[in-house]
Amino acid sequence: MSLKRLKIVAGNWKMNTDAATASDLAKAIVAETHPQTGVKIIISPPFPFIAAACENTKERTDIAVAAQNCHEKEAGAYTGEVSAAMLKSVGVEYVIIGHSERRQYFGESHTLLAAKVNAVLAAGLTPIFCCGEPLEIREADTQNTFVQTQITESLFHLSGEVLQSLVIAYEPVWAIGTGKTASPEQAQTMHASIRQFIAKNYSEEVSAAIPLLYGGSCNAQNAQILFSQTDIDGGLIGGASLKSADFKAIINSF
Ligand code: PGA
Repeated sequence: MSLKRLKIVAGNWKMNTDAATASDLAKAIVAETHPQTGVKIIISPPFPFIAAACENTKERTDIAVAAQNCHEKEAGAYTGEVSAAMLKSVGVEYVIIGHSERRQYFGESHTLLAAKVNAVLAAGLTPIFCCGEPLEIREADTQNTFVQTQITESLFHLSGEVLQSLVIAYEPVWAIGTGKTASPEQAQTMHASIRQFIAKNYSEEVSAAIPLLYGGSCNAQNAQILFSQTDIDGGLIGGASLKSADFKAIINSF
């Protein structure tokens, strides 16, 4: 199948860092990593530090900047919100959409996430769409249908051509920030299930083109075994992306 899928290590800084530490971290990643063919490094700082991150990484075409969220509307009277076009104008290339923390703490629904995906695409940016089940769903062994619903409701209005330009991150909620990683088998099984589901509803070609990232307590110790699974094309990294040495070790595990 497609061996050309991009490998991606994306760091989600969440609501961490300040102007100085965000700048230091972006600069350290530039200094300590080197471009590898077919590998994309993505960093996702909080909004106030995004423009500086774009500036600090601009010499490296293999390093892109993502936002952690955006509003679904183009512009207007939405006090406190940030549009995809604004992000694009400072050099952002990706936007994380549907992170479980957005779903859980900000009540983001499937429908809202579909609108955000559309807004990101309309601005010419790439969504990194997150999906993943909470613990009770895993314990009931209904995780496949749970994740399929998330994908169907927020992504399946897209054409195959557009869908295949996205990045999808599978992040089991019980593994995020808990130190409890999905086993390589659990992660691979879910990734294969997502790929089969997209192939069934679109085509093998569309399904094979989409980078599928694993997220949830991925770190320098477990990245290599996770990334070596057939359907795992990299990771969305939270805690371990805040230290350049750890993030670099994860990148080097390809
Ligand atoms: P974690 O977070 O690596 O700290 O578990 C991953 C994420 O939420 O994207």
